[in-house]
Amino acid sequence: MDVLSRPLIDRTLPLLAEGYAWLPNRMRDSAGPVVRTRLLGRPALALRGPEAVRFFYDEQNVHRHRAIPEPVLSTLFGHGAVHTLDGAAHRVRKALFLPLLDPDRIAGLVEQTTAAWDDAVTAWSRRGSVVLFDEASTVLTRGVHRWAGIPLDDSDAGAVARDMIAMVDGFATAGPRHLRARRARARQEERLARLVRDVRSGEVTAPADSVLDQVCRHRDADGGPLDEKAAAVELLNVVRPTAAVAWFVAFTAHALHRWPEHRAPLADGDTAFTAAFAHEVRRFYPFVPFLGGLAARDLSWRGEWIPAGGLVVLDVYGQNHDASLWGDPYAFRPQRFLERPVERDELIPQGGGDPRAGHRCPGEGITVGVLEALAVRLARLEYTVPEQNLTIALNRVPTRPHSGVLLADVRRPADGT
Ligand code: HEM
Repeated sequence: MDVLSRPLIDRTLPLLAEGYAWLPNRMRDSAGPVVRTRLLGRPALALRGPEAVRFFYDEQNVHRHRAIPEPVLSTLFGHGAVHTLDGAAHRVRKALFLPLLDPDRIAGLVEQTTAAWDDAVTAWSRRGSVVLFDEASTVLTRGVHRWAGIPLDDSDAGAVARDMIAMVDGFATAGPRHLRARRARARQEERLARLVRDVRSGEVTAPADSVLDQVCRHRDADGGPLDEKAAAVELLNVVRPTAAVAWFVAFTAHALHRWPEHRAPLADGDTAFTAAFAHEVRRFYPFVPFLGGLAARDLSWRGEWIPAGGLVVLDVYGQNHDASLWGDPYAFRPQRFLERPVERDELIPQGGGDPRAGHRCPGEGITVGVLEALAVRLARLEYTVPEQNLTIALNRVPTRPHSGVLLADVRRPADGT
């Protein structure tokens, strides 16, 4: 009997109810690191492990075209985004994002973001308390706009940051969060499409070689420029995920509260420890649950078959908590990254494979660079943590500490950073 005709019950609803735990729970019940199920009305095969990563990122096996459901496109990624392309169309569009891997570019964004953070700390110290998640998203939104050459009035930064967060927060739900996400995307696509039009008409000047300049001048595989809407979608694919580093900043504050012994090495500027800490935050805390693509042909993995058109799912959260890779996966232990080199396809909070060749996130260097810089600043900042609900619910996707991490009595450290 082939997989299409087996009576598998669709598991989309249990998935939505169980969130991050759903796939790891199914994996625990299965014989190996593979689960056969049914999702979104299709047969689905879920995999994990470095070898599975290489299988998943082989374009002969899995493609992305039509793999991403409409509710996710209309909130998180945008219609026609680089995430949805395969083959030559993907390679040419991806070239637009490869400059993000350049260490000098990353340093430029870190500089803008830390400057925005330092400005914000002055304002926080005048307030009784602040919600770190909200404040960090505004800091990151300011920093990424300045760095990308996208104009943004300081007075609009909070509202734009809320839209960036809404797009990520509402992609995996139905109801009010989802509607907020759709409205946020529509608003921000409109703002940026207008900007692209103004740059192209000469009314606004994009700084040479800025992200804005490159998106406006980009030529796709067909030789033509991106239309205004597609250009806005790809600008958002830089701004939105940079603002989303706020999730990791909130998790960093949570980790420093739970395990305060990590504060001193960060505050002292121990660079090896800081890198290890940033990787452990990305590994340990739940953010991306899994990734999906469609089987490009009839496939088999570890003896399980999936027909062409079936869903292939990479268990990101499960792999980042796989005891066979991480030993004591539910311990927050940055030292693990100092004890042995970690292979490219082991740690996959932002996807696997080679970002130049496949769909792996081109913003990983940015995420790590910005997170390191803000983790050091947070460790040096003086504040108190009032009574609050810091629970991180695993059945909410994406999740975060419930309170957003409330900080009180914030004071700039003695050396000013
Ligand atoms: C793709 C996670 C930050 C830009 C991805 C993917 C994941 C991811 C899981 C999909 C990989 C795949 O489909 O195989 C994250 C997380 C971030 C983050 C957790 C931290 C907040 C960033 C940043 C940027 C960025 C800072 C840019 C400045 C992109 C783009 C893609 C992508 C353009 C599409 C790549 C492609 O389809 O080829 N990211 N990302 N991300 N990310 Fe990130």
